Amino acid sequence: MNINKVVLPVAGLGTRTLPATKALAKEMLTLVDRPIIQYAVEEALSAGIREIIFVTAQAKKIIRDHFEPNTMLEQELARRGKQDLLELVKNIPPPGTVCRYATQPVPLGLGHAVLCARRLVGDEPFAVILPDDLIHHPTDTCLQQMMEMYQEKNASVVAVENVAREQVSRYGIVETGNDVDGVKKMKSIVEKPAPHEAPSTLAVVGRYIFTPGIWPLLETTRRGAGSEIQLTDAIAALLGKEDVYLCEFQGTRYDCGSILGLMRANVEYALRHDVIGAEFEAYLADLVKNNGV
Ligand code: G1P
Repeated sequence: MNINKVVLPVAGLGTRTLPATKALAKEMLTLVDRPIIQYAVEEALSAGIREIIFVTAQAKKIIRDHFEPNTMLEQELARRGKQDLLELVKNIPPPGTVCRYATQPVPLGLGHAVLCARRLVGDEPFAVILPDDLIHHPTDTCLQQMMEMYQEKNASVVAVENVAREQVSRYGIVETGNDVDGVKKMKSIVEKPAPHEAPSTLAVVGRYIFTPGIWPLLETTRRGAGSEIQLTDAIAALLGKEDVYLCEFQGTRYDCGSILGLMRANVEYALRHDVIGAEFEAYLADLVKNNGV
């Protein structure tokens, strides 16, 4: 069955990026020339998904504004003859994309946020992207790579990456089972273990494809780590019923939920940028030659 829908949980508080995110949604922080959330939408579109379901907190109307037409701006750009900019803003999102919104009324955790999208997703497989985890690949996005695995296995798929042992307590950590035709199956998963208790250093990053089998398990998941309803605990329950595969994706991940990660992403995306890349690289080289600021 094809995957047509993606859930983007965007209801988090952004405490790691304060004070920038005191009033601004963290997903609206800028990465070179567009907000972080737009990269997540672009990745979903790259994987053939056309329906985007945002799970927002009430306070995040700005995200909705970004993906809705801005008539005043469009009229003004047309009047000034700025055709390129007009096309640019009219294409957010590209024609044929459907944006829907679910509200997470209380911040009860990632599992709860995904559950808030249940009515809009319905009884079909779906993807989840956590926009904070930005993943770059020059040709095949992480979700495209996962989609291929899903088409082959017809089962849930989770993206994983090796992290340093002292960092495991920031992630869902998996234990791997046997390889099936070169693809690893998940054997167990635990949310944010202490380094000495972690079953491995293979961390779940913010990309998931789920069969609808996850829904009843999310419904019954109780509060876990951090007193939140954890997606990880629902995945652990899913393992008792269905296979879950691990996608050790190709690409570079940036943690845009932290200031340092966001700065790294800004520098590297700016270096790759069509318009400003070359000039920015010359500027950086100059800065380094002169021993910084
Ligand atoms: C969430 C998940 C965690 C996953 C991480 C990836 O944690 O609960 O399992 O490893 O995203 O970024 P959070 O970053 O919301 O604390």
